[in-house]
Amino acid sequence: MNLSDLTFAPTPGARPWAIAAARTASLGERIGALHEQIRRIVPAVDRMACALYDPQDDMLKTFVNSTLGNEPLRTYQYPLSASPSLLALAKAAQTRVIHHIPDELPGDSQHSRWVREQGYLSSYTVPLLQRGGELDGFLFFDSRTAGLFTEAVVAQLQVYAQLVGMMISHEVTAIQALVGSMRVARDFAHLRDVETGAHLDRMARYVRLIARGLAARHGLEDEFIELLFLFAPLHDIGKIGVPDALLLKPGRFTPEERQQMQRHVDLGSEMIERLIQDFQLGSVAGIDILRQLVACHHEFLDGSGYPRGLRGEAIPLAARIVTVADIFDALSSRRVYKGPQPVDTALATLDEMVAAGQLDADCVAALRAGRAEAEQILTRFQDQPDEAVLA
Ligand SMILES: [Fe+2]
Ligand SMILES: [Fe+2]
Repeated sequence: MNLSDLTFAPTPGARPWAIAAARTASLGERIGALHEQIRRIVPAVDRMACALYDPQDDMLKTFVNSTLGNEPLRTYQYPLSASPSLLALAKAAQTRVIHHIPDELPGDSQHSRWVREQGYLSSYTVPLLQRGGELDGFLFFDSRTAGLFTEAVVAQLQVYAQLVGMMISHEVTAIQALVGSMRVARDFAHLRDVETGAHLDRMARYVRLIARGLAARHGLEDEFIELLFLFAPLHDIGKIGVPDALLLKPGRFTPEERQQMQRHVDLGSEMIERLIQDFQLGSVAGIDILRQLVACHHEFLDGSGYPRGLRGEAIPLAARIVTVADIFDALSSRRVYKGPQPVDTALATLDEMVAAGQLDADCVAALRAGRAEAEQILTRFQDQPDEAVLA
């Protein structure tokens, strides 16, 4: 992809994030429909669930599920290394059948306990692997009937497992390819000089932490949370279109320069429309999350943000979460013109911005509640000493 293909003049008055595209079914809805089909053949399959794997964190995270009769397992994550049996399946590219869970399910993870408590008696587990053997996640079929997954049943389910694996890897790999290509593009555009890779890693993780904290109260699905996590590093993609002289300018901006800098939001919206086409992501149901966080990550609830001065609920939740994570990271990490603020001070500043009506109180509360994890993220993803961060 040529970098010059990526820069566009913004269309005046365009509101790309608000375009009501024909609604595509979410991955969760498509899994639900497949589950129904499967139950016509094997009625005793009571649950189908997919967990995604994040190799950077070694975390397996609940992603999409179709659960009949029980409360689904949500916003749950655990290290793959803590589950030797699943780790072995991934390494050997093998599936696993458990005929009688109370006797045979190894481990005492929250997940294993949950499966037993829900009364599931048998299960069939399939690792979702890419061609090169990298692990995307796992697919779980559970049943309240013991010994359901006989060889004949497994043979019937295999084709569905493959289908689900393809659906999931299509979306996830396409998104990862998009984010990866952006990381390359930002190196060419000197964006790397103003915004470190560690900033993007931390940001994405703060975003996930806040979203998980909001999940129960706002009814957020795991699928939404994971897509938000994957898309968050693209929030400032429009800065690729800002001239170097401005991007790298030391010191304060003139009002005209500030205005030009603020155009990165509209430039970003134009660029992601093009990328969505190039990476064939139009059919990803959650793609509007990307549009929203690029277009609205500098808006404030009281209308004092830019570029549109949107207020309150007019700012999508995805963007409100990203805004809080972005500001928290700016405060708590080093910039060339300032040292890092202690976490307490950074949180106090966010509280002031809530009191001033700018930031979403729930998002800041969720970050505060997850403070211990936020501190771990801050220590784990550190900027390199030679990385001078301007903005
Ligand atoms: Fe920005
Ligand atoms: Fe940022």
